[in-house]
Order: sequence, then structure tokens, then C-alpha cells
Amino acid sequence: MKPYVICHMMSSIDGHALTDGWDRPFKKNAGALYETLAQQFKFDAWICGRVTMQEIAHGDGYPAGLATGPIPRTHHFAVRDAACYAVSIDPHGKVAWKSNQALDSHVVAVVTEAVSDDYLAYLQSIKVSYIFGGKTEIDLAQVVTILATELGTERLIVEGGPHVSGSFVNAGLVDEISVLILPLIDGRGEHPASFEITQEAWTKPTYLSLASAEVQDGGAVWLRYKK
Ligand SMILES: NC(=O)c1ccc[n+]([C@@H]2O[C@H](COP(=O)([O-])OP(=O)(O)OC[C@H]3O[C@@H](n4cnc5c(N)ncnc54)[C@H](OP(=O)(O)O)[C@@H]3O)[C@@H](O)[C@H]2O)c1
Repeated sequence: MKPYVICHMMSSIDGHALTDGWDRPFKKNAGALYETLAQQFKFDAWICGRVTMQEIAHGDGYPAGLATGPIPRTHHFAVRDAACYAVSIDPHGKVAWKSNQALDSHVVAVVTEAVSDDYLAYLQSIKVSYIFGGKTEIDLAQVVTILATELGTERLIVEGGPHVSGSFVNAGLVDEISVLILPLIDGRGEHPASFEITQEAWTKPTYLSLASAEVQDGGAVWLRYKK
């Protein structure tokens, strides 16, 4: 069982994904348009990588010493009937959540079995759900299967950052790619591309079919591709 997976990214014309250094109103409008378009996908779960989730969580660490003993490496669901889930790919347990909600969605941390007992105890204490995505590394195919079987996820949107989006594409798990091309050239070669795949992980290019191209107010272009 696998949910329908859409990967939604925004990008400069030259293919870069980071917005730091962009004018504040431009960045704000781009972010608002990106989120409005995302809503059209009617998803029941959204996924971001650990780096992006740290920006959303805004936390500064978590208390040490919460675990009173070893915690079993079994999935833990604090909530099973949320309207939407915020899924955080966080293998080592770094994101400091302040609550079990992120942008009105129930947080599900995807960790590995190598995570600390203290981190699991901390997630339990704030009623964040967690699942195990692998022993020491995260297997994204396993993650989407768990989300479908345990939480009934049918439509999943991957919203970056570039490393998680690239990993989903490279794993062959994405049914649809959505890219909002913004009317600017970033030009900083050291900035990540919208989809990043490490040299060791890269297998082959991913070929796509254009499904639609829509010009948006303000000059952005929304491109949708199917596998
Ligand atoms: N343009 C856009 O549409 C868009 C969308 C979202 C975010 N962003 C921006 O992107 C930036 C962050 O992007 P990022 O690429 O550096 O980080 P990211 O994709 O948000 O997170 C990457 C991290 O996820 C963890 N991870 C675990 N398994 C993974 C796997 N199989 N594949 C990839 N990651 C895995 C790793 O955490 P560990 O390092 O802990 O092992 C890895 O460092 C932020 O500045 C954010 O604002 C842009």
C-alpha cells in the first residue's frame, strides 16, 4: 500500500531553492502563493526534512534525562484521527518541538532505531507521535508504507527541503512533481538546487511528462509533471 505522493517545491529560474537574501515582500508573496497552490492537492499528510522542520518548530533543544529506562523501538501514535499529519524526517532526533502541532497538523517524527531514549521520552511527554524508518538510516519507501497502513494516509505532499525532495524522487516514490518557478535569478552557485541527490545515492535521471503550466499573478509559473 502506497499513498499518492506529490513533491511540491518553489524555485528561482536558475533552479535554486533557498530564499535567504531575497527581498522580504517578494519572499512573503512567493511563500503565500506556494502554500495556496499546495492546498489544491488536498493532502492528508505533508513531509519535510529535519532542516526545514527545525525552521518550523522554532525550539531550542529538549530536556535531558527524561527517559527512566530503555524505550522499545516500536511506533508510537499519540493521535490517530488527525485531519492532517506533519511528518518530520529526523533520523537522529534533533528537532525540538514545542508542541505536537505544526501548522495545524499533528506531528509525526520519523526517527531511526539509533535515536536516544531521552528523545523518545521527550516526544512522548509532549504527545508527538513517532515511527521508526530504519535501523540507522531512513528508508523512505518503508516510511510511506507505514503512514498508509497505520494512519490511512492516501495523499502525501513532500514540501522540501531540497535534500528530502531529491531523496523521494531518487527513491522512485513520487507520482507527481509540482514546481513554482519564481521570476528571479538567484545566481548563487553554492546554494542547493530545488532537488538535491548526493553523488553516492544518485541512480539515474527522472523523466517526467508535463501535465500543466499555469502563469500566476506576479509572473510566477506553476508547472506540474506526472511520472
Ligand atoms: N524552495 C522550496 O520549495 C523549499 C521548501 C522547503 C524548504 N526549503 C528550504 O530548504 C532548506 C533546507 O533544505 P535541506 O535540503 O538543507 O534540508 P531538508 O531537506 O529540510 O532536511 C534534510 C535532512 O533530513 C534528514 N534526512 C534523513 N533521511 C534523509 C533522506 N533519505 N534524504 C534526505 N534527508 C534525509 C537529514 O537530517 P540529519 O542531518 O539530521 O541527518 C538531512 O540533513 C531550508 O532553508 C528551507 O527553508 C525550500
